[in-house]
Amino acid sequence: MTETGLQAEALPVDPPVVPAERDLFSKFDPLLAERAALLASGVRDPFAIVMEEVRSPTEAVIRGRETILLGTYNYMGMTFDPDVIAAGERALRAFGSGTNGSRMLNGTFRDHMAAEESLRAFYGMSGAMVFSTGYQANLGVISTIAGKGEYVILDADSHASIYDGCKMGDAEVVRFRHNSVDDLDRRLGRLPKEPGKLVVLEGVYSMLGDVAPLNEMVAVARKHGAMVLVDEAHSMGFYGPNGRGVYEEQGLEGQVDFVIGTFSKSVGTVGGFCVSDHPKFEALRMACRPYIFTASLPPSVVATATTSINKLRDAHDKRRRLWDNARRLHAGLRDMGLRLGTESAESAIVAVILEDQVQAVAMWQALLEAGVYVNMARPPATPAGTFLLRCSLCAEHTAGQIDTVIGLFGEAARLAGALPG
Ligand SMILES: Cc1ncc(COP(=O)(O)O)c(C=O)c1O
Repeated sequence: MTETGLQAEALPVDPPVVPAERDLFSKFDPLLAERAALLASGVRDPFAIVMEEVRSPTEAVIRGRETILLGTYNYMGMTFDPDVIAAGERALRAFGSGTNGSRMLNGTFRDHMAAEESLRAFYGMSGAMVFSTGYQANLGVISTIAGKGEYVILDADSHASIYDGCKMGDAEVVRFRHNSVDDLDRRLGRLPKEPGKLVVLEGVYSMLGDVAPLNEMVAVARKHGAMVLVDEAHSMGFYGPNGRGVYEEQGLEGQVDFVIGTFSKSVGTVGGFCVSDHPKFEALRMACRPYIFTASLPPSVVATATTSINKLRDAHDKRRRLWDNARRLHAGLRDMGLRLGTESAESAIVAVILEDQVQAVAMWQALLEAGVYVNMARPPATPAGTFLLRCSLCAEHTAGQIDTVIGLFGEAARLAGALPG
């Protein structure tokens, strides 16, 4: 037990022995050995953190210590918005705690319809479908719209949900080099002309926080007759004049066929969605397994999402504060000589690239002990086998909090030997 009595799921010390030849878990031995070696070096498990209290979008209590949150995807700080909370409470009282059913059967409530209506208004598109998570939205849309004999063409650094959508579907999968317009062009050019093709892109790539050259990529996809899906999970709310994402920022209204998004980041709750102007978009509701064969979101969740989306549309002040915060942190970390994922602040994610797992965990732990939580990311989630400390900013961080974080990063980086010279 930890001092506070709270602990994430622990592995049993002496599990019963199963003969290796029929133990389906023996494939996890290298993973368990690596974790054991890491913990034996005296560090905490970066993947077993428990939030004992959450006081605001930027502050929590972890192991009894007040901690600045710099690793959540609460970009717009909507989780404690009074209107959002009130909407959730009203729906909880009016409709109960859950739907007990699929969207296809008894699981579509008034609030699901309202959430889809606000998405249509937010994106200015004719079709919107709410899924139970963003993961399921990618899984469902990609696997359903690209079928046998067709192609999905995806960036090598795509999110796991995009890869899993490809695995679940029957289309041929072609990868191109991360953010390389030329490689996308070359690979599309090698494919037969006739079959349907879906190019899958992300507005912001979540590991390094870099932005895609969507305008060039969409032009290339169009040239080869491919449809385009853009996952704007990490850009909704703060890119583009209406907060629609990087595609809006780069002037691609009307040129992207499908936009995937999530409620788990800027919207501040849980859920996923796809919006589109395709005239037959509604057909997906009858064919998409991750939409059909799962329970729909609780009404309180969709009610909070609707209120949050409606407020995000005009959240110009929050957008400005988020960008100020991202630039402030990026400049502070860059100036102390840390290696970052991008040259300048391209998004609300600032990734610090470290040498190896030992250095990354040492620095992560020093930061946590000093009262700052950041995400540690490691392969296979990261590109090119890198170990990262990923900072994600919130519109509600104060300049004072960012300056404190920069100071603590300096000390942690010195302790972990991550500073140059
Ligand atoms: C690019 C991208 N797409 C989709 C998802 C899945 O979103 P959700 O948390 O709603 O399942 C994530 C989550 O981190 C993501 O980063």
